[in-house]
Amino acid sequence: MRKITANVYMTLDGRGEFPKYPGSDRPSPKVSALFRHMWYDRFDDVTTVIMGRRSFLGHQRTWSEKARKPGEERWLLEYRRYLDRVEKICLSHRLKSTDWENSRILSGDLARILAKLRREKGGNIMLEGGPAVVRECLRRNLADDYWFFVMPVVYGRGPRYWGPMGAQCTLKLIETKPGEDREILLHYEAVR
Ligand SMILES: NC(=O)c1ccc[n+]([C@@H]2O[C@H](COP(=O)([O-])OP(=O)(O)OC[C@H]3O[C@@H](n4cnc5c(N)ncnc54)[C@H](OP(=O)(O)O)[C@@H]3O)[C@@H](O)[C@H]2O)c1
Repeated sequence: MRKITANVYMTLDGRGEFPKYPGSDRPSPKVSALFRHMWYDRFDDVTTVIMGRRSFLGHQRTWSEKARKPGEERWLLEYRRYLDRVEKICLSHRLKSTDWENSRILSGDLARILAKLRREKGGNIMLEGGPAVVRECLRRNLADDYWFFVMPVVYGRGPRYWGPMGAQCTLKLIETKPGEDREILLHYEAVR
């Protein structure tokens, strides 16, 4: 069965932003251990990446190989190439077509979309934002596991991951991993 993992990059107050903090914008000649763990180590097993429309368009604008900046580190190019080649699902009612290769646009109830994707052939599935889609996934307990990349900042603004919940959702802690710049990765499995 294809596993569905939600990636949650958040500030301590649960905002889906990437603020600056000591070390966060330091140029790095090699991929950080956490980024490797969350992405590079999963390039072979994750064959589908799902994004809401805003995140999909933002990722295409920023992270496709075409958007590469001169002189950029080699390890980022590998990430760009992965995002270009992986199957991408853009969730949208408005968008009717896309020129990002290996992409499909789907719309409808998130649980139904995920169930349909699980039935298709392929490796594991990653739900890569934005916060609105991840929030719905958390509220309805739709993913098999969650990777919370928590940045050491209380930010106070930006899209929220947390909102009203219909019922308590209890998760099982699988792993914690500190980052180089005082981030922490919390890996939880859903309890069903
Ligand atoms: N921290 C992070 O991890 C992270 C990751 C990605 C993005 N971001 C930031 O978060 C912001 C974007 O996130 P967001 O939460 O506002 O938006 P988003 O989730 O990227 O996109 C929301 C859009 O997705 C579409 N959508 C969602 N569910 C759908 C469904 N079931 N069926 C059809 N369409 C569906 C809708 O588009 P239509 O209006 O076309 O129907 C909706 O307006 C940006 O500022 C970005 O920089 C943060």
